Amino acid sequence: METVVSGIRSTGKLHLGNYYGAVRNFVQMQNEHNCFFFIADYHSLTTHPTPSDLHGNIKQVLVEYLAAGLDPEKSTLYIQSDVPEIAELYLYMNMNAYLGELERGASFKDKIRANPNNVNAGLLTYPVLMAADILIHHATKVPVGKDQEQHLEMTRTFGNRFNNLYQTDYFKEPFAFNYSKDLVKIPGLDGKGKMGKSEGEMNAVYLSDSPEIIRKKVMKAVTDGGPTQDNQEKPQEVQNLFDLMRVVSSTDTLSHFEELYNKAQIRYGDFKKALAEDMIIATQPIREKIEHISADTVLLRQVAKHGAAKARESAQKTIKEVREIIGFRNF
Ligand code: TYM
Repeated sequence: METVVSGIRSTGKLHLGNYYGAVRNFVQMQNEHNCFFFIADYHSLTTHPTPSDLHGNIKQVLVEYLAAGLDPEKSTLYIQSDVPEIAELYLYMNMNAYLGELERGASFKDKIRANPNNVNAGLLTYPVLMAADILIHHATKVPVGKDQEQHLEMTRTFGNRFNNLYQTDYFKEPFAFNYSKDLVKIPGLDGKGKMGKSEGEMNAVYLSDSPEIIRKKVMKAVTDGGPTQDNQEKPQEVQNLFDLMRVVSSTDTLSHFEELYNKAQIRYGDFKKALAEDMIIATQPIREKIEHISADTVLLRQVAKHGAAKARESAQKTIKEVREIIGFRNF
């Protein structure tokens, strides 16, 4: 049995990228490993320092974790800010993270390009906080999507550097994990890159979207004029929709539309209709539970409290040991 840690920022509702890139693996992992899953609310402040509804956003992720099948009895489910030991470890790890390597982070570069008026130190040291999240429980497996791969590499760097500095083998090396060969990157509906919360409301399909909204979003997804010759290469925007179909539809449906595309007979209207219906079917069990769980304040309070206690127990042990390794002593 290994230790697993993963989290999702509390910046809004979960979309299909979060689900297929991360949460679906959490649900499987909770049966096999010692798992810690959390809501990264400290991290959300790096881009949203004054969210209008921080508590509501945290609740949304907690509700959707439960609706997607996370079981608070099997894994430790908690809110990052309920475990202040993480912030203490972040402080120590910041002492051995260097400006140059942080500035080279792909995610940092993307975020400052998108938001040049908010280049704050929290954004720069985002990977250090993420390393603290993972190292605090000595995780070796981290179920995440492809976009987090570089952060895992940085986590290993910081952990190894701590070990070298203090001449110890205290931190283990964690690795990004997924049940298939490659980490997942779920594309959005805008014909460009990945599905994401900040790429506009129409780019992402949320687990809580109603069937009508899913149909509307998929029908509006970007496509080209259609293939004119047999076996034509797909443009990016069409490949993206096929990639989405690969995750939500059966292999029969996928090969049916692949074949039509390759014979230049595909009708995008039919293709999108089938894709939307399969997205609706894939999300239905989760969607149905979201509303119900959201109304159960007693359950949510219990889950958060129980999770915080379990996570703090593990985190406090680490902090005590780290303080000893660094050399803090009582008088
Ligand atoms: P966040 O909140 O951006 O995304 C949460 C998880 O969803 C995955 N994901 C995707 N996977 C595939 N395709 C997509 N289009 C897609 N969009 C999002 C992400 O890879 C991630 O696994 N830094 C993290 C949160 C975090 C964390 C941690 C994760 C904080 N501390 C410690 C693991 C361990 C983040 O921003 O995720």
